[in-house]
Amino acid sequence: MEKSVAIEARGLMKRYDNDVAIGALNFEVLQGECFGLLGPNGAGKSTAIRMMYGSSLIDQGDLFILGLNIKNSGREIRSQIGVVPTEDGLETELSVRENLILFGRYHGIEKNLLHRRCEDLLKLVKLEEYADHRVPELPVGFRQRLVFARALINEPRILFLDEPTLSLDPSARQWVWNQIQNEKAQGRTLLLTTHDMEEAEKICDRIAIMDRGKVLAVGTPRELIQRLVGTQVIELQVPRGDLQYYLSRLSSHNFAFQVVKQQVNVHLKDNDDPQRVMNLVQGISLTLRQSGLSDVFFKLSGHDVRDELI
Ligand SMILES: Nc1ncnc2c1ncn2[C@@H]1O[C@H](COP(=O)(O)OP(=O)(O)OP(=O)(O)O)[C@@H](O)[C@H]1O
Ligand SMILES: [Mg+2]
Repeated sequence: MEKSVAIEARGLMKRYDNDVAIGALNFEVLQGECFGLLGPNGAGKSTAIRMMYGSSLIDQGDLFILGLNIKNSGREIRSQIGVVPTEDGLETELSVRENLILFGRYHGIEKNLLHRRCEDLLKLVKLEEYADHRVPELPVGFRQRLVFARALINEPRILFLDEPTLSLDPSARQWVWNQIQNEKAQGRTLLLTTHDMEEAEKICDRIAIMDRGKVLAVGTPRELIQRLVGTQVIELQVPRGDLQYYLSRLSSHNFAFQVVKQQVNVHLKDNDDPQRVMNLVQGISLTLRQSGLSDVFFKLSGHDVRDELI
């Protein structure tokens, strides 16, 4: 059976003053998948996700969430989605439990049901012992658990997460990854933003690679890697003066490569023998490794994901 579409963006655009932050985004997210918007700082990830969860207006284009048009069904959509924003907006004067109750009331959840759900969620995110602590007393990782619980208070069908692991330590980060996978196993659809290649590769079924307000490619991490850069990379440390010589040698043997600062990355397809490259560049120091999404990103954007944009 074909999966139905949970999110559909058609020609989505956003301008801030006269600057285009998002230029004509098109993509579909299927129900039950974990979809990632992957891109560096300023790519437009937060702008895009905010339009999807209804905290930023669309300038142009169409956006459908669970088949509903966001322009006229905002209230109904909000009742079916949960949000983990970058700025958590927790009430710092209130306790963990009170934060959940308050949020449940916004959703109009009946009192007894809300209290039951609140206790279940505290258990789920393992914050029972902290239920009566005020928010500022929580370590950052636990605070993020509370934001997760808050996002689930209305049993949403879609979860939107804007950089959910930003500034978390490795164990808190792993907790978020596990939680995302659990929510997917429950049948929820997840859309998250990240600039972390490892995160995208590990937890997303499909990703849209974004840069400077545009989607450059959409696919599963594996598909994108195989299609765009092949399975393996040989990194060559070529002395500056010899660069042109080696580049023309690689070109004349039809190898695909990218020059990343002082390094040449040669991309190997499944049936390429690394030895053929090694024979061409004898005496040059080299490393053979598996390709990753950062290679895909560089190929599509022409710059490293860690580069500051000017
Ligand atoms: N409220 C705003 N007013 C004006 N410009 C904005 C605003 N929010 C974002 N921008 C601009 O829009 C572009 C996209 O920003 P956005 O925050 O969506 O990117 P991002 O991919 O989420 O980046 P980051 O990784 O830093 O969170 C940037 O050029 C940014 O400066
Ligand atoms: Mg952002």
